[in-house]
Amino acid sequence: MSDFNFESLIVDIPDYPEPGVVFKDITPLFADPDGLRETVVTIADHFRDAGITKVVGPEARGFIVGVPVAMELGAGFIPARKPGKLPRDTYSVSYELEYGTDSLEIHKDAIKPGDKVLIVDDLIATGGTAAATGKLVQQIGAELVGFACILELQFLNPRTTLAESGNHDVFSLI
Ligand code: PRP
Ligand code: ADE
Repeated sequence: MSDFNFESLIVDIPDYPEPGVVFKDITPLFADPDGLRETVVTIADHFRDAGITKVVGPEARGFIVGVPVAMELGAGFIPARKPGKLPRDTYSVSYELEYGTDSLEIHKDAIKPGDKVLIVDDLIATGGTAAATGKLVQQIGAELVGFACILELQFLNPRTTLAESGNHDVFSLI
């Protein structure tokens, strides 16, 4: 595990986007060249020997982290998108957020049953997004290896939600 100070490049925004929520702004971490590289390499290092063939990233911040992690692992990248954005046949799942509800879709043919899949996002709060993305992967019949993120909000108990889809590796930098 890296000794890089990831936390120093994440800014807390109180009461955004609604009262009572402390929004974790990870854009300064992405803007920092060392922070960006350490983020990507540290996540990839954790899963380097896991034989990952596909990284799935939920829209939108999961794209930012997921694509370079996929490249670093020599895997492909699959976007899980908000409704109505993907042009071909999709699987769809609805889920609850820390603030509101949403749905995600994935192309039915994007992942094959033999694939070993890692789900990557910037942040896991309630775990709703990551768990929903996991359900899409399992619906296809692929092997869900684990979840990775920069920041996990432990006080929201996301691992309880994630455990509903099985006992998978959950790796967070903070
Ligand atoms: C944020 C974040 C995660 C999700 C985490 O995305 O990037 O995907 O919330 O919350 P959860 O663990 O409670 O599901 P958001 O839906 O705000 O979309 P964005 O990436 O487009 O900003
Ligand atoms: N997504 C869900 N909860 C969040 C939070 N507190 N900060 C940033 N992104 C989030």
